[in-house]
Amino acid sequence: MLVAMKAAMSLVGSQGFVSATEVFLVAAVFCLVFLLIQSFRQHVPKGLKSPPGPRGYPILGNVLELRKDTHLALTRLSQKYGDVMEVRIGTRPVLVLSGLDTIKQALVKQGEDFMGRPDLHSFQYISNGQSLAFSPDSGEVWKARRKLAQNALKTFSIAPSPTSSSTCLLEEHVSKEADYLVTKFLQLMDEEKSFDLNRYLVVSVANVICAMCFGKRYDHNDQELLSLVNLSNEFGDVAAAGNPADFIPVLRYLPSRTMQLFKDINRRFSFFVQKIVQDHYTSFDKEHIRDITDSLIEHCREKSVGEDARVPLSNEKIISIVNDLFGAGFDTVATALSWSLMYVALYPDIQKKIQEELGESLNLFALGPKSDRGTLPYTEAFILEMFRHSSFLPFTIPHSTTKATVLNGYYIPKDTCVFINQWQVNHDEKLWKDPSTFSPERFLNAAGTEISRTESDKVMAFGLGKRRCIGESIGRWEVFLFLATMLQQLEFSLRPGEEVDISPQYGLTMKYKKCECFQIKKRFPTKSSP
Ligand code: HEM
Repeated sequence: MLVAMKAAMSLVGSQGFVSATEVFLVAAVFCLVFLLIQSFRQHVPKGLKSPPGPRGYPILGNVLELRKDTHLALTRLSQKYGDVMEVRIGTRPVLVLSGLDTIKQALVKQGEDFMGRPDLHSFQYISNGQSLAFSPDSGEVWKARRKLAQNALKTFSIAPSPTSSSTCLLEEHVSKEADYLVTKFLQLMDEEKSFDLNRYLVVSVANVICAMCFGKRYDHNDQELLSLVNLSNEFGDVAAAGNPADFIPVLRYLPSRTMQLFKDINRRFSFFVQKIVQDHYTSFDKEHIRDITDSLIEHCREKSVGEDARVPLSNEKIISIVNDLFGAGFDTVATALSWSLMYVALYPDIQKKIQEELGESLNLFALGPKSDRGTLPYTEAFILEMFRHSSFLPFTIPHSTTKATVLNGYYIPKDTCVFINQWQVNHDEKLWKDPSTFSPERFLNAAGTEISRTESDKVMAFGLGKRRCIGESIGRWEVFLFLATMLQQLEFSLRPGEEVDISPQYGLTMKYKKCECFQIKKRFPTKSSP
């Protein structure tokens, strides 16, 4: 406001064509409007206060400070303003939560209050606004869909396989894809010498979720799948916490290539899934449920009976669950693997320790989804450190309050948009010694034989509470199996003398810049590859 008055006064001084009375009239109107806007803001009940936060510019709020590396900017601000802080993006207030205890208090102890999703502009394009993860619904329909998704995932992943010799279906799929990657990497090293390994990782991981969702594997050169999985950067740019166009309406009307690509990828994604769903309807046989899509179709047909009749779900709401599972199931796991391979290449001693633990012939696929923990502590510690150090999901998906509530003595109105800063927790000096150092040992006991559960429970990667990731066990198990299979047979390094830039690019999932410096060779040159 002061800036506006100063500007007006300088106009009087320099031009001399506006009278002082007119300037004061304008200023008075301005003040009135300002006070009116303030009075529309939620009334804070007596004895409580609004969360502190940085002052922002009119209309823009704090957007300029948050534009780049939003996770770092908000971590810096939280050091000044505390674990419960309010920033403004545009004119919209956003609550930013930091500190593990505060986040647990909000998402676990006051879980019902903080489990909503904000109604953000870009989210309406995801799954035609029907997304389980991004749509603003957090009522009975969301609960019923989440339960359905969890059951379907379990049946077609970590439940024991009825037919195969693997302990579960997930292992069967991962083992096929990991073996393929080992052979492909060696072949590419031989023929091309340098290549972008992430391009292959993402297709293999996508194939695992495709097998569970659609009972189908794609060729690594399938153009349709490639064009979907390789565009996920644009998805992450727009869906990231703090995208200005979600908060400043006028920006939606300006031409934006990223937004165009985002809409396009969502359209193509839905089209891709719809085609497969149609094929499943045509060949559906209720005596032979092949995959998650079949199990959802079966649910559509039988929903009118039993307990499900209590919460009526439209067929569209049931079937579109598969969009969420497919969408959430590849970029996250592929990014985790991509960081894992970068860390082992950067730290050869750490790679050697993992390989010594894995041995030459340990049958990884006989371990079962939960039993890796006792047997391979160093490998597990490495994976935990990868999640912590990279914090490649710097924020959860934004939350919102479902009712007016109080957190740490601060009043938070209903429908407040909430960012959960996972990066801050994973780099908090109060929780971690030398947080910027990559050290799997921090999770091990002195003898190096056991993981400390107190330490591992402090890592935030999958969210907490009612919105906690439903693919967590699958995601962790997939990362472990892919990584262990590759490291059992291959050695990763970076071409000597070349600079590698691993600074994460801000987005929903953060990745390092394209890197073609990986060198891959067989660990045991005399053994034939699978
Ligand atoms: C390393 C792998 C993964 C990581 C780090 C991860 C992380 C996350 C995070 C941080 C959230 C948001 C939590 C919140 O908003 O509070 C989330 C939500 C979700 N994840 Fe994952 N995820 C992974 C793998 C998977 C997989 C494999 C699937 C499914 C096959 C999956 C399905 C979902 C779904 C459906 C949601 C939305 C839940 C809801 O809003 O109720 N995720 N995940």
